Amino acid sequence: MSDARERLRIAVQKSGRLTEPSLALLRQCGLSFRQSRDKLFCYGDGMPVDLLLVRDDDIPNLIEQGVCELGIVGRNVLAEHQGGTGAASTSPRVVERQPLGYGLCRLALAVPGGRGYRTPRDLQGLRIATTYPRLLAQFLAREEVRAEIVVLSGSVEIAPRLGTADLICDLVSSGATLAANHLREVATLMDSEATLVSSAREPTDARAEIQELLLRRIEGVLTVRESKLVLLRAPRAQLAAIVKLLPGGVTPDLTAVEGDADEVALQALCPRAVSWPELEAMRRAGARSLLVLPVDKVLA
Ligand code: PRP
Ligand code: ZN
Repeated sequence: MSDARERLRIAVQKSGRLTEPSLALLRQCGLSFRQSRDKLFCYGDGMPVDLLLVRDDDIPNLIEQGVCELGIVGRNVLAEHQGGTGAASTSPRVVERQPLGYGLCRLALAVPGGRGYRTPRDLQGLRIATTYPRLLAQFLAREEVRAEIVVLSGSVEIAPRLGTADLICDLVSSGATLAANHLREVATLMDSEATLVSSAREPTDARAEIQELLLRRIEGVLTVRESKLVLLRAPRAQLAAIVKLLPGGVTPDLTAVEGDADEVALQALCPRAVSWPELEAMRRAGARSLLVLPVDKVLA
């Protein structure tokens, strides 16, 4: 258990697919980090938040042990830690707080080029190499298939070539790793993306407020990534029709235009991008001076 601390700690993958986008997200939240010599612990400027750069698979354990409060991992890592539908997941100590929308990938089965595969039944008696033994075991149990799970800590994709497994169960993102190793994806066990995780127990000291603030900022950054501010002018009579065309069913702010009782200025924060056809439809409905702007920050 951790002692009372004044500063929050967030753990991020040291080197991998999630490292750069995760650090970019934290920078957008107003954090900057002083790189320490060992690069494992980085002191945060701008907010009382420090960064731990570690192996992604270690992050749920570090949170459980109270070494850090927050972490960014693939949902697959969290699911593996929680042990799927096992007893451990009935009251998880590490919980998902916020999907982050990047690091999209899937946990999949892949077979060497020459091997056929039609249904999970075909896996009966085979050896499957993976770094996700619990998720794989859960899948095999669900499909009522007996196969041998060969647990590896990395480089799973070369196991079939080395003869230590017949096929693999690994993360696939672009598919480049599979292609380079002449492996063919045949079934998906779960879809995944980067997600913010934390201890199920909220901190009770100064860290509670910092955590709340950081979560709000992350939410704000995610919102603005998609958001657009739409500005336009329209005759009052056409307003209802134009508002219906705004993406996301948003309620706009309306302002009277000085010297023109008939004209209204509209401002709307839309939750997604606005396409040219949507903009043209608003123009046909009577809107003028249409402007779509990117959003830099949002604070609810
Ligand atoms: C995964 C997986 C593959 C690679 C697949 O590793 O183990 O090596 O990504 O990506 P691709 O389909 O785009 O080639 P990850 O980044 O999760 O790192 P880790 O397994 O070392 O934690
Ligand atoms: Zn990993």
